[in-house]
Amino acid sequence: MKGIILAGGLGSRLYPLTHATNKHLLPVFDRPMIYYPIQTLVNAGVTEVMVVTGGPHAGHFLGVLRNGTGVGLTHLEYAYQEAEGGIAQALALCEDFADGGSIAVILGDNTTDADIGPAAKSFEKGARLFLKPVPDPHRFGVPVFDSEKRIIKIEEKPKNPKSNYAVTGLYMYDNLVFDFINECKPSGRGELEITDVNNLYVQNGNLDYVELDGFWSDAGTFESLYRTNKFWAEKALAG
Ligand code: DAU
Repeated sequence: MKGIILAGGLGSRLYPLTHATNKHLLPVFDRPMIYYPIQTLVNAGVTEVMVVTGGPHAGHFLGVLRNGTGVGLTHLEYAYQEAEGGIAQALALCEDFADGGSIAVILGDNTTDADIGPAAKSFEKGARLFLKPVPDPHRFGVPVFDSEKRIIKIEEKPKNPKSNYAVTGLYMYDNLVFDFINECKPSGRGELEITDVNNLYVQNGNLDYVELDGFWSDAGTFESLYRTNKFWAEKALAG
């Protein structure tokens, strides 16, 4: 399985911090944010990675990650996303890199101390999501379950969430994902939504999920960036 980290976008919710560098290179305790999703992949045995980035500071990634060996990768490629056209648009840039195989995708502002190794090893086909109960599901993709707790739909940032789970920014896909992205149209916010892609897998009957153990947070707002820093600092200082 290859890994993909999506680190594009302008990070405008974090201005003025992101006037200086890309959001995913901001400090989270003692290292740049993107080190955490890289570590999650490396811990799961995924060491061939593509980073998708964009925006005015895209070049900073080369200076920080270089060829990836310093952060445990055996192979590192970069792709440049021209505009902030959505998570699914960024993922579409990785079709050649995926080369017909399965992929583990992590949003570059998501950090977790969960072990996704077993989920990666057992993954065969379809799509696999990682869910986490949260106090503020309206900020995320939210699954709707049937009576047997199967996902029947995912709603993106619903005003009235039908469960208290977030669809975290970790995903596993087979190669059909690139066909499904091609079927998607830009949403109301002008983006190709990963939630639309996941709903196509639901309709195909080929989506499953696991609940993520341990800490998980995004870090795209001041509050979540602070929470993320606090967690990783306390964990490092305690250990
Ligand atoms: O954090 C998990 C959530 O991420 C999911 O629950 C949502 O379903 C999913 O849509 C997404 O929600 P956000 O609206 O919070 O995503 P955001 O626009 O902040 O983008 C998250 C990361 O994705 C960002 O750090 C970099 C990458 N990205 C995003 C966009 C819009 C790209 O690489 N390119 C893009 O065009």
